[in-house]
This record gives sequence, C-alpha cells and structure tokens, in this order.
Amino acid sequence: MINSLNIIYGSINGNTEYVMGRIEAFLRTVLPGLIIRRVRAETAKPDDFKLADALLLGSGTWNTGGDEGQLNPHMHALLFEHLKDVRLPGKPMAFVSLGDEQHHFITDCIGHFRLFLQNVKGEKLLQSLILVNDPYTELERIDRWAKDFSETLATADASGKPDDES
Ligand SMILES: Cc1cc2nc3c(=O)[nH]c(=O)nc-3n(C[C@H](O)[C@H](O)[C@H](O)COP(=O)(O)O)c2cc1C
Repeated sequence: MINSLNIIYGSINGNTEYVMGRIEAFLRTVLPGLIIRRVRAETAKPDDFKLADALLLGSGTWNTGGDEGQLNPHMHALLFEHLKDVRLPGKPMAFVSLGDEQHHFITDCIGHFRLFLQNVKGEKLLQSLILVNDPYTELERIDRWAKDFSETLATADASGKPDDES
C-alpha cells in the first residue's frame, strides 16, 4: 500500500509548477490519507527519493548544457549527478513532461526521465503525462490524468525499498 508520495519538479517559467500543484490539489481531495510533499528540484535531496513510498517527477524541456530536448537544469543535476549512485529498486514512479512545438525535440525531457528510471531500477506506475504548449489549455487532460494517477496509487503496492549507493 502506498502511504506517501513525494512530488519533485523543476520549473523555470512556472508551467510545470502549476501542473504539479494542480495534481497535488486533486490527490489531496480524493486521497486524504496519503502523505504528500512537494519539493523543487533545486532543494531536493536523495532522501526525498528514498523515503517516500512513491514519486511523481515533473520537468519542462530545456536546452540544458546547450542542446535542446533536455531536462530542466536543476532536475538534470539532481537525477544524473546527485543521485548518480543511488538505486531505488521497484520504487513506484510517474512522470510529467512539458514542452512546446516551437522547438525541434518536443517534450523530449521524457527520454531523460526514462533513462533515470532504468538507472535506479524503478517501476513506472502509469503512462506519463506529456503536455505540449500552454498547459492552461489542457486542464481537462491534466485532471483526467490526475484521476488515473490517484486510482493507480490507491491500488498499487509500495514494493520498492530504498537501497543505498549500490
Ligand atoms: C530556452 C528554451 C529552450 C526550450 N527547449 C525546449 C525543447 O527543446 N523542447 C521542448 O519541447 N520545449 C522547449 N522549451 C519550452 C519549455 O519546455 C516550455 O515552455 C515549458 O512549458 C516550460 O516549463 P517550465 O515553465 O515549468 O520550466 C524551451 C523553452 C525555452 C525558453
């Protein structure tokens, strides 16, 4: 049973922050017993990944390091530098990716989340929420995904246990 969820996200212009806040608000309504913490990638620590039963990660797509199609720079540093040697076998996770059509590698930060999932040996809980262009025009889809996510959380097992620096 999943008792706690950490929502960890990177957001430069506030779009991802808005989406994560909206999903959090929905979860708090329908799953009042679930302990939820929301943490920005800038301040998140490895323990924020290890200690919750499940994780929801969100990022816009950026030109981190010079190339487009990357994670938010803080999320990139967190996942691929600070958590480089951490394994989270079976940890249930879900992902939200934002981007826009003005760019070539549209919402490609999702590929970096996929790589992180493989590195830490986590378990994806459900299909990722991918939002192209203005998320404020996608409220119905965000709410539908939040509902699917809540139902998945309500029935999933917290099978993964944090496994230090393996
Ligand atoms: C400098 C810059 C680079 C970007 N690169 C990409 C990209 O490669 N692919 C993409 O889909 N969107 C790209 N975007 C669009 C953002 O991902 C999009 O605006 C997103 O909603 C930002 O989310 P945030 O405000 O939470 O950071 C870029 C935006 C900027 C300003």
